[in-house]
Amino acid sequence: MKLEVASVVKGSETPAGDGVSGALRCIIRLPDGTKRSAILKRIPIEHIAAEVFSAIILQEWGLPVPCPFLIDEGAMLAFASADIGYPNLKQSLAVDSLPVGAIREAVLKEAVRVACGLSTAPLAVACDEAIDNRDRNLGNILWDGTNEIWIDHALSLGQGAHLPDRNKMCDMSVFSGQAESMQYSAMAQALLLSRDAPTLTTSVLASTPVPTDGIAQFVASRLTSLGNRLVARFPRPVDLLTGHDQP
Ligand SMILES: Nc1ncnc2c1ncn2[C@@H]1O[C@H](COP(=O)(O)OP(=O)(O)OP(=O)(O)O)[C@@H](O)[C@H]1O
Ligand SMILES: [Mg+2]
Repeated sequence: MKLEVASVVKGSETPAGDGVSGALRCIIRLPDGTKRSAILKRIPIEHIAAEVFSAIILQEWGLPVPCPFLIDEGAMLAFASADIGYPNLKQSLAVDSLPVGAIREAVLKEAVRVACGLSTAPLAVACDEAIDNRDRNLGNILWDGTNEIWIDHALSLGQGAHLPDRNKMCDMSVFSGQAESMQYSAMAQALLLSRDAPTLTTSVLASTPVPTDGIAQFVASRLTSLGNRLVARFPRPVDLLTGHDQP
């Protein structure tokens, strides 16, 4: 994956997300003059670095993510990703439009069950652990009823230090009763993640203004302990013979 620097076509911006960070749908112009629909985020440079580094390394690891772009806004850089054209899982099941109560709970549980059942969910669990993504909520998984695309990595790679240290897909798999299979599948995926990817990603970004200091080392060090990190995200079975887990 290469990282192209594009510009926003003036007047093409409309709101795209749930409004917290102000993601915008817009048209971007690529260096060769072609135009594409994209989702634009005007976020701090550290978050831009997290987004683009994650997009490149996750693609290298085989997780489906949108193509990333850097947006040149003169004095500022912004981040954009190719518009996938379908909604996130929360929107797909209209979770937010339901009143608080039993039906909403049931739909939420169904959304979580769908998320954990996606074919690339175990790979996403392993990848999120490797990049320290603490923000894998249902709004950050695009789903058209069949295919999934994983988005929003602004709070990975150390940028989510203010958030609880959770791997949310692991929590979701516990919530929906899929923890055991998720743990084994995610462990298998973790073994397959290329250990060369952090250095390779840094080299892709070397010719861009994106600051990558320390990111490859950050990921490499998490990769060395990935198996143990994943095990610790799931409940441990009670040891019935010794009762070590008993008070
Ligand atoms: N590449 C994309 N293709 C299609 N939709 C996208 C894409 N990227 C983001 N979106 C949509 O925009 C929403 C917001 O994007 P994102 O999750 O990256 O930012 P955010 O910081 O959570 O923004 P907000 O606070 O505005 O929701 C997503 O939930 C999704 O619905
Ligand atoms: Mg989001």
